[in-house]
Amino acid sequence: MSETLQTILQRRSIRSYKQEQIKDSELQAIIEAGRFAPSARNQQSWHFTVVQNQALLGRINKILQVVFLHSGDPLLEERAKAENFSPFYHAPTLIIVSADEKAIAPQADASLALGNLLLAAHALGVGSCWIHSLRFLFSTEEGRALNKELGIPAGYTIVGSGAFGYHAGEAPAAAPRREGTVTIIK
Ligand SMILES: Cc1cc2nc3c(=O)[nH]c(=O)nc-3n(C[C@H](O)[C@H](O)[C@H](O)COP(=O)(O)O)c2cc1C
Repeated sequence: MSETLQTILQRRSIRSYKQEQIKDSELQAIIEAGRFAPSARNQQSWHFTVVQNQALLGRINKILQVVFLHSGDPLLEERAKAENFSPFYHAPTLIIVSADEKAIAPQADASLALGNLLLAAHALGVGSCWIHSLRFLFSTEEGRALNKELGIPAGYTIVGSGAFGYHAGEAPAAAPRREGTVTIIK
């Protein structure tokens, strides 16, 4: 099987990370993979914000904790009460992918880019996980105040984010795939 297909099939969402930072060369290669994703009419409507600063990661974590606490979702509220709360699993690198709201397909562009980041990370031996909750960062006053600091261009919306770091455990097994999700017409 080709290495590319192996990477696609073997990538797993990683939820425990070493505190050791990933190498800059790995980060650059991961970002480059994101920048080379396909995009509607080649608009490349994405923006990547890499956060490796512990203090800023801590501030983002605190904002999300408040968002979770007031989410109205009992599961999220319970998670927010945990002493070691971190929706990005204390990963040393967080990459927030935002996209231009005025583009043709910002959600699709940014999602494909984020998918590329996850696959590239796996190919390099770096663990990763898509983290949805960053989308809610701007739902609080404090979160919105971070916009400039995060370098997110005006008119861009956060589509998602990825946690990145070296895996601190055993590789998780793949979740079983749902049956009946394919129709082939010849
Ligand atoms: C849009 C999207 C949002 C996700 N959000 C989260 C998240 O917030 N936290 C998390 O731990 N995993 C998140 N995941 C990862 C999924 O839970 C994971 O991909 C799924 O369980 C299958 O596992 P696998 O990635 O190991 O194949 C998300 C995945 C996608 C595509």
